[in-house]
Amino acid sequence: MRVLNIGSLNLDHVYQVDHIITPGETEATCGLNLYLGGKGINQSMALAKAGVEVYHGGLIGDDGQPFLDACAEYGVNAKYIRKIEEKTGHTVIQIDKHGQNSILLYGGANQCLTESYVDEVLADFASGDILLLQNEVNLLPYIVDKAYEKGMVIALNPSPYNEKLDAVDMTKISIFLLNEVEGAQISGSTDPKEILKVMLEKFPHARIVLTLGKDGAIYADKAETYFQPIFPVKTVDTTAAGDTFTGYFLAGLTEGMPIPDILRMSAKASSIAVTRSGAVPSIPYRKEVMEALQEA
Ligand code: RIB
Repeated sequence: MRVLNIGSLNLDHVYQVDHIITPGETEATCGLNLYLGGKGINQSMALAKAGVEVYHGGLIGDDGQPFLDACAEYGVNAKYIRKIEEKTGHTVIQIDKHGQNSILLYGGANQCLTESYVDEVLADFASGDILLLQNEVNLLPYIVDKAYEKGMVIALNPSPYNEKLDAVDMTKISIFLLNEVEGAQISGSTDPKEILKVMLEKFPHARIVLTLGKDGAIYADKAETYFQPIFPVKTVDTTAAGDTFTGYFLAGLTEGMPIPDILRMSAKASSIAVTRSGAVPSIPYRKEVMEALQEA
């Protein structure tokens, strides 16, 4: 079983601010850093750092070379990442003094996937392989349909949630990894128990991982439910915390670990990520996560 992630690659422009800017306000920033990010590549990096052999598919511009270098450094297979004549996706991220963020996203090359590119990548994968997706690239409905036809196991992080997801046939998704905001948008409820109930009614064969920020995370499928509290830490930057959780969760699943152990490992990995700045650089390696778990 192999893991393919077709997802975004963003150059994150991260500004330190006193507070997240409000409409009409001008605020001087306290600092600027440029990090590699994008929900797609963050999740591939988390999988790789957790020890999984992961292939990343996606598009970058000429300014995207640092992603290829990072893939080589962290062990993500980048053979499907293509350079095109478009700007690499980028974000403008504000981080306030509590580590909370706000993200403005420019899709760029991430929105230029073509059906022929998707066909070419999927041609190398087969029934039982895992396909991970987020909502920062175009053609999600097509990718889901084609991967499902092949018998791939599809994991979806429906983030950021927007109307484009309405065109995705979610009955073809085997694993949902989402937060309470996305859960509310899919289920119409803000209560975590109700979100899980509605989702399992709609998608009875799916496994659902609902992250709840400081309130922890819940796993549910039609047979069992598990709750995982957070590991409290001093938060510096929450960017990529969810991506870290997603990557580690899938890593645990591919290894056949018991769900409570996977949740614990994923929560610990996220708790480490939020103590560091940036997306890709904040994601811990498995060794560090396991050592921290032993100390916990
Ligand atoms: O999930 C965090 C990511 O969201 C950031 O790295 C940013 O690029 C946005 O895609």
